[in-house]
Amino acid sequence: MTNRNVLITGGAGFIGSHVVRLFVEKYSNYKIINLDALTYAGNLENLTDIENAPNYTFVKGDITDEPFINALFDKYKFDSVIHLAAESHVDRSIKDPLAFVKTNVIGTMILLNAFKALWKDNFTDKLFYHVSTDEVYGSLGETGLFEETTSYDPNSPYSASKASSDHFVRAYGETYGMPYVITNCSNNYGQNQFPEKLIPLFINNIINHKPLPVYGDGNYTRDWLYVVDHAIAIDLVFHKGKQGDTYNIGGFNEWKNIDLVKLLCQQMDVALGREKGSSEKLITYVKDRPGHDLRYAIDASKINKELGWKPSVTFEEGLKITIDWYLNNEDWLNSVTSGSYQTYYQKQYS
Ligand code: NAD
Ligand code: TYD
Repeated sequence: MTNRNVLITGGAGFIGSHVVRLFVEKYSNYKIINLDALTYAGNLENLTDIENAPNYTFVKGDITDEPFINALFDKYKFDSVIHLAAESHVDRSIKDPLAFVKTNVIGTMILLNAFKALWKDNFTDKLFYHVSTDEVYGSLGETGLFEETTSYDPNSPYSASKASSDHFVRAYGETYGMPYVITNCSNNYGQNQFPEKLIPLFINNIINHKPLPVYGDGNYTRDWLYVVDHAIAIDLVFHKGKQGDTYNIGGFNEWKNIDLVKLLCQQMDVALGREKGSSEKLITYVKDRPGHDLRYAIDASKINKELGWKPSVTFEEGLKITIDWYLNNEDWLNSVTSGSYQTYYQKQYS
C-alpha cells in the first residue's frame, strides 16, 4: 500500500468524523490531517477514540482563509483531499444564503487553487474528492430516480451552493487536468449528527417530550442512508473510483417523512420504555419549508455494479443503532443542544 498524505476537510462534523475514523483505523500508513473550523456543527468529541492515533493530526482552520490554506498545503504537501467541510443545513441556507456561498463555493475554490498551485499541473497519483449531495439534482415527482446523468436543477440555497462547487471541481478537471471524483449522496443518518436535521432533532424532542414539527403535510420523500455505509462508499470511491467521474450513493430506502417519523416514534417508545403511541402524540404539523423539494430518490446501481458497494444495514437496524447511541450519549446531546442551539431552535420553530 502506498503512503499518502490525505487532507480531510470537515472531519469534525457528522459524516466527516466517520470518514476520518475509518481512514485512521484502516490505513496506518496514511498521514490523515483533519482540517475543521469547528463551527456549531463541528465537534472534537466525535473523535475522542482516535485523537491520539499516530497517523492522525487535527488542525483548526477555515477553508475560506486563503493564506492559511496555502500555507497548510505547503507544509503537508497533500497528495489527496477528501472535501467534506460545508454549511450543510437547508433551513439555515434559507435564512443566510451568503454563508453557504462563502464556505461551500469560495471555500471549495480556495482548496482547488491550493491543490493546483502545489502540484503545478503535475497531478500524477493525486486526487481531489468532492463529497456532495443528491439535492443538486432538484426535486423528483412521484416517480423516477436521480442518475449520474440527471441534469443539475438545484432549488435551495444549500443545493445551489453544492451544485456550484461540483461544477467548479469538474471545471478544474476539464480545464487543468486536475484528477477529481465527485459523489452525490442521499440523506444520511446515524450517530453524531447535529440535532437540526430531521432524525436527530426528532429523537432529541421525543426524549424531552417536545412537539415534533413536521413541515407541511409530511408527504415529502427522502432516501436515507446509514452514515457508516456512506463512509465505506467514500473509502471505495477514493481508492477504486474512476477519476473524472461521478457516483451516486443512496440507501435504496425511500420514506415519506410522516411514515419515517411514525417508525421513529414506535422505536423510541420501545427504547424509552414508554407507552405505545405516546411519541406519536407529539407530531405537530407546522408551516412548510419554502421551496421544499418533494422527493429525492437515488439510483445507486453504478457504484453497486462498478465497485460492489451496497448498504450493510437495513433502515430499521440503522435507526435502532442511532437511537441507542443518542440515548447512551446524553452528555454529547446536552452539550450540543445548549447555548446557541437554543437561539437557533427558537428562531426556526417559534
Ligand atoms: P456537518 O454540518 O455535520 O459538518 C460540516 C463540518 O464542516 C463541521 O465539522 C464544520 O465545523 C465544518 N466546516 C463548516 N464550515 C467550515 C469552514 N469554513 N472551514 C472549515 N470547516 C468548516 O455536515 P455533514 O452532514 O457531515 O456533511 C458533510 C458533507 O457531506 C457536506 O459537504 C455535505 O454537503 C455533504 N452531504 C451531506 C449529507 C447529509 O445527509 N448530511 C448528504 C450528502 C452529502
Ligand atoms: P433535513 O433532515 O433537514 O434534510 P434535507 O432537507 O437536506 O433533506 O430534512 C429532511 C426532511 O424532513 C425534509 O423533507 C424536511 C423535513 N423536516 C421536517 O418536516 N421538520 C423538521 O423540523 C426538519 C428539520 C425537517
